[in-house]
Amino acid sequence: MRRPRKATVITTVLATIGGIGAVAGLAVAGVLATAPAALALDNGLALTPPMGSNNWNTTQCRSTFNETMIRGIADTFVSAGLKDAGYQYINLDDCWAETSRDSSGHLVPSRTRFPSGIKALADYVHGKGLKLGIYTSAGTHTCNVAGFPGALNHEQTDANTFASWDVDYLKYDNCNNQGVDAVTRYTKMRDALKNTGRPIVYSICEWGKNQPWNWGPSVGNLWRTSGDISDNWSRMVGRIHANDTHASAAGPGHWNDPDMLEVGNGGMSATEYRTHFSMWAIMAAPLLIGSDIRNASATTLSILTNSDVIAVDQDPLGRQGTILAHSGSTYVYRKPLANGDVLVALFNETSSPATITTTAAAAGLSADAGPGAGTGRITYADGTTQQFALSVPDWYSNPPSGSDPAITMTYRNRSGNTQQAHAINVFLVKVPLQEGKTPSGVTLPDVSSTVTSGVPAMHVFGIAIGD
Ligand code: GLA
Repeated sequence: MRRPRKATVITTVLATIGGIGAVAGLAVAGVLATAPAALALDNGLALTPPMGSNNWNTTQCRSTFNETMIRGIADTFVSAGLKDAGYQYINLDDCWAETSRDSSGHLVPSRTRFPSGIKALADYVHGKGLKLGIYTSAGTHTCNVAGFPGALNHEQTDANTFASWDVDYLKYDNCNNQGVDAVTRYTKMRDALKNTGRPIVYSICEWGKNQPWNWGPSVGNLWRTSGDISDNWSRMVGRIHANDTHASAAGPGHWNDPDMLEVGNGGMSATEYRTHFSMWAIMAAPLLIGSDIRNASATTLSILTNSDVIAVDQDPLGRQGTILAHSGSTYVYRKPLANGDVLVALFNETSSPATITTTAAAAGLSADAGPGAGTGRITYADGTTQQFALSVPDWYSNPPSGSDPAITMTYRNRSGNTQQAHAINVFLVKVPLQEGKTPSGVTLPDVSSTVTSGVPAMHVFGIAIGD
């Protein structure tokens, strides 16, 4: 009789972490740190960082931003697997409106860009199982020089308009704010949105000017932590460091926002875009695609739909990764995950290869507790029993050699992952039977409870009774 038994399983998870030069990523099982308390905006939305798209980084105010584009993006979300990957919101940025309100003071969609209106667009997007977002500013006008009307002192009217169009997300910018206190302005729109009764994700975009990480959690679902990203490495890295110091403010329903993605816009290499995407995931940042996904290359799509990286971003624990260590321009980030694993990312922001090291202990993980052991039992047909010992050697500290394990192999932690390999030790235990007796059952010991987690290895037992 041979019964394979998984005696000790130490889970390992890995995200793909790219970068310039030597950049690697790994994750090992371990303990969770205590989550900081934060007062959440109680609208029940964005329990994981919002995923979707926004046209700004690719079109800005150009005429290519129009309803044909937005409908095409909705179509592509479905046809290219982005919806299945978790992308949901299709957000309009600045320049969607006419420059004047109508005679009753309501915002009017641009007659040339959106001749069918925003409600029709929302219907189309909803018909695809997706959601629609819109934009305005907490000022007299939005940011674009054309002078589109802003919502300052029109908060309830505009919130009602958005709700009447079945809009699901509002990005609320900071231009032309007339020096009115930011918390007052952003809170007013929060309340206006709430009054509509429609669930609308509320994205605060005041560029980190008024420490929104201090008040944002009770006002909005996300808040920008810095000025605008642009499609180059140094500006992107700047967004990371303006964002990574505010991790304690982030959590389900309230996120730091280092700005929209540039992946696919052409200004960075594929490796740099991979790093950009992975670092956004480690920071539990909103994943808003900023390139024209209708024309995305296979590389762009593969980065944006990398399910391992998205799973890190969308981890339900909602912890933003923090810097564990850094030396010059190399960083080690640590992000606890809901299943108890801790993701550790190594990030080299320079253009030269670098060696970055860390340890399980540095990441707050328990070291190997050494071997585990237990007692099993064979039951014979005559009712008598026979005990036998089963033990897990300390393979973590002393890797197996020779004939001890039946097989030692390496494996990749998750599909598609090319970064790491850990040992699986498979071995066979032989238990001699008592002479002339017929066994009727075998009870295996639970060795797993005696081996502490934190060991990046998997032990699989085969047991041969009576061979
Ligand atoms: C500001 C915002 C950008 C974009 C533009 C639109 O710069 O930070 O994200 O919305 O306005 O004009």
